This record gives sequence, structure tokens and C-alpha cells, in this order.
Amino acid sequence: MKLENETFIVTGGASGIGLGITRRLISEGGRVVAVDIDAAAGERLTEELGDKAHFVHGDVTDAQIATTSVAEALNVFGGLNGLVNNAHASRQKPFLELEQSDWELSFSTGFQATLNFMRAAHDELAKTKGSVVNFGSGAAMSGQVGQAAYAAAKEAIRGISRVTANEWAPEGIRVNVVSPLALTPGVEAWSKSQPAQYEETVAKTPLGRFGDPETDVAPIVAFLLSSDAQYMTGQTLMADGGTQKLY
Ligand SMILES: NC(=O)c1ccc[n+]([C@@H]2O[C@H](COP(=O)([O-])OP(=O)(O)OC[C@H]3O[C@@H](n4cnc5c(N)ncnc54)[C@H](O)[C@@H]3O)[C@@H](O)[C@H]2O)c1
Repeated sequence: MKLENETFIVTGGASGIGLGITRRLISEGGRVVAVDIDAAAGERLTEELGDKAHFVHGDVTDAQIATTSVAEALNVFGGLNGLVNNAHASRQKPFLELEQSDWELSFSTGFQATLNFMRAAHDELAKTKGSVVNFGSGAAMSGQVGQAAYAAAKEAIRGISRVTANEWAPEGIRVNVVSPLALTPGVEAWSKSQPAQYEETVAKTPLGRFGDPETDVAPIVAFLLSSDAQYMTGQTLMADGGTQKLY
């Protein structure tokens, strides 16, 4: 198996795309420290996946949680080979209606948390020549209405990903971005409240459907974390059914 005995931190790893990634990395032989604010989802995760998954209950906006997660990876599994910065919370509102707290939510859970985890993980990733996968969004790249706070944080994440890909390459650490489209419980709820927008998104997706977190998005994350992607860094991969093209 590609990721045999390798250890990964996955933020937001207990539900949605993060859960799909956690399951996939374990199915490929890896072990996962899943960090999530949702304690009940964390409990379900460890029940399902046993001792290959270690749950850290916490808020990724707290820098201490990043340090704790790296320490847990070392204590429980003996090392760290990769980091997946997947968690991100945000509110959708027209630009002029966004309040300071809305900007703070998106930047603290998305940008600042990514930054904190990258800082905390760097020294261990340098030892293992590990890899970082951060999360972008097609909504940010296309400038989807109502997504200003989210888009700004997502593009800031892509900015630091390109810079650290260059700065950390001499140490053998690769940094890439995945931009997904997947049917998570959150998206499912949105599809019921905004069926027209949901259908419009499906219609604009060449492959004609939302992706599955585990079978459509997670394999691309697993690829980037594996040695198959050893010559790839600073890139954004679209796991979105062909919705956006980057040239
Ligand atoms: N689902 C999509 O179609 C889509 C599209 C574009 C980008 N993305 C990105 O993919 C990633 C995952 O998306 P998703 O749809 O699975 O999200 P989600 O909201 O369904 O799940 C996010 C996970 O993060 C956890 N989380 C939220 N805030 C947290 C915090 N402060 N501390 C710790 N954990 C926290 C949640 O409990 C949940 O388990 C995000 O970065 C999102 O922006 C998703």
C-alpha cells in the first residue's frame, strides 16, 4: 500500500471531505490524527476506524491545537509524514453586508489555522520529507457572489502555499492545493434550501454531478501525499468534475 505506516494530520477530519480523506489515507495503509471541533463526529470516527485513527478534539483557530496535534502524531504514531489543512468555516453574504466577525470566521478557521498547522508541522515534515495539502475553492477562483470573505481566505491560502512550496523545496517538503466539489452533509443541506443553485452547479459541471468525498476527492489528496507526486509542488489540483480549468 502506498501510504504504509505513514502518519497524517487531517484538520476537520471527522466529517465531510475530511472524513473521506481520513478513511482513504487509512485504507492506503496510513494513520491519521483527525482534528475536529465536532466531538460526536470524532467519537464515531474512532469507533469506525479503530487505532489507525486518533481523534484530537479542538478548534483549529487555537494555535495550541496545532502544536498538540503534531505532538500527538509523534506520541501516538511516532512521526509525521503529511498535513492536510481541510477545515474551513464561513458565512455567505453580499460583500457590503459582511461584518468584521464574518471576515474573522473565514480568516481564522481557513487562513490562520492553515498557517498555524504549517508552522507547527514544519520541523517534523522536514525530517520525513513530508507533504502539505491545503484547500482552495472554485468559488474563490470564479468570484462566486456572496463568497467574498471565503474567497479572500481561500486565495490567501493558495498564496502561502506557492511561497512555501518554493521556500521549503530545498528541505524536501512539498506543498500543494486541492480545490474540490463534493456532496458533504453541509452541501446536501444547502441543496435542499437552494435547489435552483444546486441544479445550476450540477449543470455547470462537465462530469454532471457533485463528487464523493471519499472516492472522488480523497484519492487526489492521497496521491499528492504519496511519493507518486514527488515531482509536484506549488500546484492547485481541481477535484471538481471539470468545473474550472486552470491554465
Ligand atoms: N464541499 C465542497 O463542495 C467544497 C467546495 C470547495 C471547497 N471546499 C473546501 O473543502 C474543505 C472541506 O469542505 P467540507 O464541505 O467537507 O466542509 P464541512 O463544513 O462539511 O466540514 C468541515 C469539517 O471541519 C470541521 N470544523 C469546522 N470548523 C472547525 C474548527 N474551527 N476547528 C476544527 N474543526 C472544524 C467541521 O466540524 C467538519 O468536520 C473546506 O476547506 C472547504 O472550504 C469544499
